[in-house]
Amino acid sequence: PITRVWAREVLDSRGNPTVEAEITAGKDCVSAIAPSGASTGSHEALELRDGDARYNGKGVMKAVNNVRFSISKVIEGMDVQNLKAIDNAMISADGTPNKSKFGANATVAVSLAVAKAGAISKGVELHEYLSPGSYILPVPMMNILNGGKHAGSNLKIQEFMISPAGAATFADALRMGAEVYHELKSLLKKSYGVSAINIGDEGGFAPALDTTPEAMNIIMDAIEGAGYAPGRDVYMAMDAAASEFYADGSYTLDGKTLNAGELVDFYADLSRSYPLISLEDPVMEDDFETMTEMTKKLGSKLQLVGDDLFVTNTERLRRGIEADAGNALLLKVNQIGTVSEAIEAAELALKSNYAVMVSHRSGESEDTSIADIAVALGCGQIKTGAPARGERTSKYNRLLRIEEKLGQSAKYAGKSAFAALK
Ligand code: PGA
Ligand code: ZN
Repeated sequence: PITRVWAREVLDSRGNPTVEAEITAGKDCVSAIAPSGASTGSHEALELRDGDARYNGKGVMKAVNNVRFSISKVIEGMDVQNLKAIDNAMISADGTPNKSKFGANATVAVSLAVAKAGAISKGVELHEYLSPGSYILPVPMMNILNGGKHAGSNLKIQEFMISPAGAATFADALRMGAEVYHELKSLLKKSYGVSAINIGDEGGFAPALDTTPEAMNIIMDAIEGAGYAPGRDVYMAMDAAASEFYADGSYTLDGKTLNAGELVDFYADLSRSYPLISLEDPVMEDDFETMTEMTKKLGSKLQLVGDDLFVTNTERLRRGIEADAGNALLLKVNQIGTVSEAIEAAELALKSNYAVMVSHRSGESEDTSIADIAVALGCGQIKTGAPARGERTSKYNRLLRIEEKLGQSAKYAGKSAFAALK
């Protein structure tokens, strides 16, 4: 049983405080850290911040104290291997639809720590604990060029990712990604000067580019320059995070103002010109209708991912599935607040023929739980930033270890992760 539940304030990768929870069961003491978004969806579970003088209002001592003195009372004494019962106990003690009493940053840190402690108490790896016999290594969707809220440029598209789906193993995919990343670095430096190789929140470069094609062209050059074939070895993916450049019915990007229909045409052009396989949040977070239209038009060749649209919430996802809005779920455990609920959302997606991409947040930590969650789900896709910076590489490196340990039974998802490439 769980004998002690504790928490403390630690720093995330942006230098903001976040919640670390610590679970003691038997002789094991196990911790996990809550991540934090910048371009958060308005339907996400609540991230509780203190709003006082410390850390410019961003302190999380209220959430920490909720773990120490409220959640502890609810789950101490429970069987550490019963994650679902523990998550449910937290959910009902919180009692709100969006975890606003305890804070999702409190519940997610506890839930992740309980999952890890359960695995340790059983003497198995976390992915094995969550899904015995899991063996599929995900394709890394590496964000090598950052824009939007994660950078300080005029680029409105938030994430430009590469996806080495043509690799044979996860380790090869990661190497290919890193080689392209370094090629991109030298091309950016040559074309735009040294300031172009400064980096954004997720470890990708944040050059002062103005338009989407400028970014995509130089990434194409980097893929080729590194010796790979775009559209065979390495594909491209984007997270537009379109709510961030939407206001009053229109979208402002690349020096233009577009309505939803024009924006869809803009993406259709991109998907004709580049080997784009995945596009996340192409329209603002409540526009299920345009998402449905777009899925009809482009869904057979393009994975359309709902992040702010679905917020890892089964109710919003169900609404999307009924409307054929998008064909993939972005899975962020802290958007919903517990591991059990996130897994439920993933299961609903997978059984409805939606793909699932497990995701980090722009504010991250050394915690690697999402790497195991991606393997456990067998969903074949993970995005956790550039192949650089410790809070990003910790996840990729964890996947290297899992692949090595699985040995012959490991299988890299590769192209099979994408309906359009099968
Ligand atoms: P966020 O960005 O963590 O800042 O929300 C990641 C994403 O939009 O996918
Ligand atoms: Zn997103």
